[in-house]
Amino acid sequence: MIPGLPTNIDQIKGFLSAGEGQALYDNALQASQSGPVLEIGSYCGKSTIYLGLACRPNNSSVFALDHHRGSEEHQPGEFFHDPDLYDATQGVLDSFREFRRNVTSAGLDDVVVPVVAGSESAARQWQTPLAMVFIDGGHSLATALTDYRCWVPHLQRGGVLAIHDLFEDAYEGGQAPYAVFRLAMASGLFEEVQRVDSLGILRRL
Ligand SMILES: C[S@@+](CC[C@H](N)C(=O)[O-])C[C@H]1O[C@@H](n2cnc3c(N)ncnc32)[C@H](O)[C@@H]1O
Repeated sequence: MIPGLPTNIDQIKGFLSAGEGQALYDNALQASQSGPVLEIGSYCGKSTIYLGLACRPNNSSVFALDHHRGSEEHQPGEFFHDPDLYDATQGVLDSFREFRRNVTSAGLDDVVVPVVAGSESAARQWQTPLAMVFIDGGHSLATALTDYRCWVPHLQRGGVLAIHDLFEDAYEGGQAPYAVFRLAMASGLFEEVQRVDSLGILRRL
């Protein structure tokens, strides 16, 4: 039971199962007592809403980072392309309008801070220590590794690193997030504390 969870959460466009949403919420509720949360890859705001609802009772914030131009798999002709999110006048995907509509409907405008930028650009001048980082951005190996390298240095000791789309079997899904997970575990900086569907939750030691 998540207080304030929109009754239409299943209809919000996105790629998170209910169990993954609950795990994000539970971990963010604890972590956000110590600082803000940052997610890389907000899309239409589904994960943002779970994180925002967790931050609210702690007077914390979610930085919702996304350039809103879609990942490779969202582009026209690709498997996860959604024509509703395509701006034909500009010839680009644009998920920001839908993101904002969903965050506003959930009553989270004062908790969610949208950062409409590429992950690497946003990280360049970043100074704020983070209590939780959720990686769910681009799924090419280069992009996923960049997200890890750019943002993990900002994660506080004891903070939570969540990674979506972990598939040990390449037949089930792309391997880049799992490569990031293995890199994090091999670094000795993290312990795995929870796995729900394809969501991994790690704690920074
Ligand atoms: C899988 S979707 C995120 C799904 C979302 N977390 C949810 O709950 O439904 C990935 C998002 O990452 C964004 N993205 C991809 N590469 C990015 C980058 N380098 N910087 C910022 N955003 C990026 C895309 O625009 C897309 O909206």
